Amino acid sequence: MSTPTLEKHSKSLDDLEGDQGHLIKVTFRIRRFNPEVSADATWQDFQMEMDPKERVLDALHKIKWELDGTLTFRRSCAHGICGSDAMRINGKNRLACKTLIKDINPDKPITVEAIKGLTVLKDLVVDMEPFFQAYRDVMPFLITTGNEPTRERRQSAEDRERFDDTTKCILCAACTSSCPVFWNDGQYFGPAAIVNAHRFIFDSRDEGGEQRLEILNDKDGVWRCRTTFNCTDACPRGIEVTKAIQEVKRALITRRF
Ligand code: SF4
Ligand code: FES
Repeated sequence: MSTPTLEKHSKSLDDLEGDQGHLIKVTFRIRRFNPEVSADATWQDFQMEMDPKERVLDALHKIKWELDGTLTFRRSCAHGICGSDAMRINGKNRLACKTLIKDINPDKPITVEAIKGLTVLKDLVVDMEPFFQAYRDVMPFLITTGNEPTRERRQSAEDRERFDDTTKCILCAACTSSCPVFWNDGQYFGPAAIVNAHRFIFDSRDEGGEQRLEILNDKDGVWRCRTTFNCTDACPRGIEVTKAIQEVKRALITRRF
């Protein structure tokens, strides 16, 4: 397959702010898949001139806008908030909008492919429905019975701290799609669902903890975790995912949470 090239350069944010960067040649090796064209995925190289301080998402935009409009990927916020652009970059799950080219060895071709364990629909876009179904299954919302407050539900700073880490999840699926158990058997709830269950199980205002623990006591629940720490390594929000899973396991044994 021929290699499209892009010599023209759009200015990065740093350039606009006066910090002139130098351009380097970078090859992006992207795993392409279009079920309307072929049942097989293929790698395609794009050679670009980029500022090392630009992000992988900037490169994907340039390819799509200037070289090949059929390149398909998800992104929304472009600032690490919406969680829509998780992908495997040089074999590791990352957010394209938070990955600077200079940080991933641009001397070699940079590989970009869809996250694993979920069905690829086209190029870098996967079917997220199984992921979100597991999220919905753990009831990721506050459950209370009666005692409606007239104002907010109060909570001490200590009680709030108990689940602070797991409030940071942006549902990007980087953790779940880096988990070997999930790759082998998509039935496993996966780290992200457990993180979001943890967020409410350990919330002193919530009354649905027992229900959620029973849901995760299932054969496809927390006990499938093999503590490989892939999830913690993959999380772009720095959440201690494995620790949260361990805390849910412990709560299941002790029924203290
Ligand atoms: S726990 Fe981290 S990696 Fe997993 S979905 Fe949430 S933000 Fe993404
Ligand atoms: S585009 Fe929203 S997190 Fe990257």
